Amino acid sequence: MGVLIKNGRIITAIDDFVGDVYCDGTTIAAVGQDIDANSGDEVIDASGQLVFPGGLDPHVHMELPFMGTVSADDFETGTAAGVAGGTTSIIDFVIPARNEDLMEALAAWHDKAGKAVSDYAFHMAVTWWGDKTKEWMRRCVEEEGITSFKTFMAYRGAIGVDDPELIEVMAHAKTLGGLVTVHAEHGDMVVELQNKLFGEGKTGPKYHALSRPPAVEGEATARSLMMSKMTGQPVYIVHVTCKESIDAMIRARMDGVNVYGETCTQYLLLDDSVYDKPDFEGAAYVMSPPIRPKGHQEVLWNALKLGALHTVATDHCPFNQHGQKDRGKDDFRVIPNGAAGIENRMALLYTYGVLEGRLDLHEFVDLTSTRAAKIFGMYPKKGAIRVGADADIVVWDPAASGVISANTHHHNCDRSIFEGFETKGAASHVVVAGRVQYADGDLKVERGAGEFVRRTVG
Ligand code: URP
Ligand code: ZN
Ligand code: ZN
Repeated sequence: MGVLIKNGRIITAIDDFVGDVYCDGTTIAAVGQDIDANSGDEVIDASGQLVFPGGLDPHVHMELPFMGTVSADDFETGTAAGVAGGTTSIIDFVIPARNEDLMEALAAWHDKAGKAVSDYAFHMAVTWWGDKTKEWMRRCVEEEGITSFKTFMAYRGAIGVDDPELIEVMAHAKTLGGLVTVHAEHGDMVVELQNKLFGEGKTGPKYHALSRPPAVEGEATARSLMMSKMTGQPVYIVHVTCKESIDAMIRARMDGVNVYGETCTQYLLLDDSVYDKPDFEGAAYVMSPPIRPKGHQEVLWNALKLGALHTVATDHCPFNQHGQKDRGKDDFRVIPNGAAGIENRMALLYTYGVLEGRLDLHEFVDLTSTRAAKIFGMYPKKGAIRVGADADIVVWDPAASGVISANTHHHNCDRSIFEGFETKGAASHVVVAGRVQYADGDLKVERGAGEFVRRTVG
């Protein structure tokens, strides 16, 4: 039994036409006009609706042990929330503790991810450099289907690396043909500022933001790009938030550096006034880098249009206000960093990007799906509507509207950082691996149906 999507306006990163898509098993078998259903096929009438490739979120953390707790969505609830919002695949990060065997950490991540309802891939975080690191990186690329590495310039003393370690990672990734992704913040300066502020009796969530100002991110971005130039290793800067980083990336590109940039919905849509909320509510927005002062958001939108940023992700890493964030009630330094967003990414980017004239529909598809699939070696299996691609498809109702709330979202989290945001346009149907898993508000996912996506270089 197949799934036939009829008479939708099919939008890809380059195409725009009215037609039908036929899914046979887990792949797209036909794209064209007047495709007939076979008996037993499920038919979705997509007239008046848009049809997109399923969303790919290249930056999420399900069930991540972090800052003394574990992110609140596991692979099942997190991928299910993604499906409800039109995101049908994710790339999560294997994050070994310092001195942990990377291969053992990978095995643990495979165990956790087995319950995902939709497909997933992994980046491997290199959190320390030792005798075996080169061999582990080789195994990732050549045997394990993991072609991208993550490095944290922040989180010193935990999962962060220092400059010599980062240079080693880049130099070795270069020999393997992998991609290095970078969380760019000057780790030592963050610790210095945190301790200074805390020492002055400044304990609330707003001081999280003040301990990580834009200059701290911009400097680290520029430094990582200098290392990229010297090693010849392409880099992907995750969760870019500010003008300082965009300036560094544009300068580097003009200087021949092969850099990709990612931002996240929250950095486009929120400003740092969120940290002024009373009753410790600002803690819900504690993430790294932090939400920026007004002005940076417009720079990010412009950078998307310019092509200086290439993807919009979420950095989905939810922590509940009660029982998790409140660990830091008297000390912003220990508030778990992160927030939920995977379910809201596509509706927010459609509403505030496409409908406000900042992005066209092709750019929307590119930023939410196709470009990440290309950068991370998953295209055209993911990010495409064409024969042979995975049958991950979103039927998008442009007439739908909604209001985001923690009371109704599918995230396993007691707060939404987009509480009260109005959205226009929403997935009416989401096909995942050839099965309709979301239809008119009804989520019918299957624990463990997702598969690991092996990637190759070149
Ligand atoms: O605050 C954040 N971003 N938490 C998740 C870990 C990371 O740095 O991406
Ligand atoms: Zn990060
Ligand atoms: Zn992250």
